[in-house]
Amino acid sequence: MTNDPLARMARALEERFGTKIPVASGQAGAESLARLLEHRSQRRYTPQPVSPELLQLLFACALSSPSKSDLQQADIVHVRDTVKRTAIADLISDMPWVRSAPVFLVFCGNNRRIRQVAELRGKPFANDHLDAFMNAAVDAGIVMTTFIHTAAAAGIGCCPISAVRNHAQIVSDLLELPDWVFPVAGLCVGYPAEEGKITARLPLEVTVHVDRFGEAGIAAKIDAYDRRRVAKQPYAKQRSVERYGKAEFYGWSEDKARQYSVPERADFGAFIRGKKFNLD
Ligand SMILES: Cc1cc2nc3c(=O)[nH]c(=O)nc-3n(C[C@H](O)[C@H](O)[C@H](O)COP(=O)(O)O)c2cc1C
Repeated sequence: MTNDPLARMARALEERFGTKIPVASGQAGAESLARLLEHRSQRRYTPQPVSPELLQLLFACALSSPSKSDLQQADIVHVRDTVKRTAIADLISDMPWVRSAPVFLVFCGNNRRIRQVAELRGKPFANDHLDAFMNAAVDAGIVMTTFIHTAAAAGIGCCPISAVRNHAQIVSDLLELPDWVFPVAGLCVGYPAEEGKITARLPLEVTVHVDRFGEAGIAAKIDAYDRRRVAKQPYAKQRSVERYGKAEFYGWSEDKARQYSVPERADFGAFIRGKKFNLD
C-alpha cells in the first residue's frame, strides 16, 4: 500500500463513497485527513498490551474534545477488573471482541457533576429536561470519537459497543454508575490483528444538504448505494430469514430494515428515567 497521503485519500474516498472527490495537491494536514478517511472499526487484536502511559495519553486527547458550554459531561470507565470484564463479555457473548480486546472502556454521559456544582454553589438547577440528557450523551459520543481517532494515530484500533445498552441496568450496577450517569457505549481497544476494510457510506449528496434539507430521489439513491456496497462487501448472512425469507438481492437497506423491524432496547427510556432524568 502506498504511503503517499494524497494517494491514500483518493483510494479511501473512492472506496467509501464510490466516487472521486477532488483533493488539492498541496492539501494541508493530508496525513491526518488520510487517516480519518481510512477509518475502520477493528474487532480483532494482537495480544500486545496497550501501555498504561499511552492509555492515559489517549484519555487526555479524548477529553480535550469540545464540550457543550464547557460543562464537561463525559466520563470514561476503564474496566480493568477481570471479574467485571468477564461479566460484561458474558452479557454480549455474540461479540467475542468484547472479551478478547486488550482494553475495554465504557464512555458515559455524566449530568450528575453539574447538579453537584449547582448544589456546591447554592444555586437552583433549572435545566431538568430532555436537553440535559441529550447534552451529556452528545459529549460522551464526541469524547469517544476523539478517542477512536487519536488511538488510530497511535496505531491502535477500536470498536464501539452500543450493545452495553442492551444490558444498561446490569452494566450500570457493575460499574456503580450513580443517578444521572449512564453508559453511552463500550469501546474495545487494541493493536489491530488485521488491516480491516473501509465500509462504504451513503453518498454525500444524500447526507450533506445545502441551505435546506432535501431527499429528492432518495429511493433510487439508496438502491444505488446498496448495489455499490454489495458489489464490494456482500453480506455474509441475511437477518430474520425465517420471517422474511431469503432475499435474492440483500443490500444495506434490506439489512437495516430487517434489523429495525425488531424492537431494540425499548426499555432504555425506563432505564434513563430510573437514573432520575426528566425526558420532557
Ligand atoms: C455508537 C456506536 C455503537 C456501535 N456499537 C457496536 C456494537 O455494539 N458492536 C459492534 O460490533 N460494532 C458496533 N459499532 C460499530 C459499527 O458497527 C461500525 O461503526 C459500522 O458498521 C461502520 O463500520 P466502520 O466503523 O468500520 O466504518 C458501533 C458504532 C457506533 C458509532
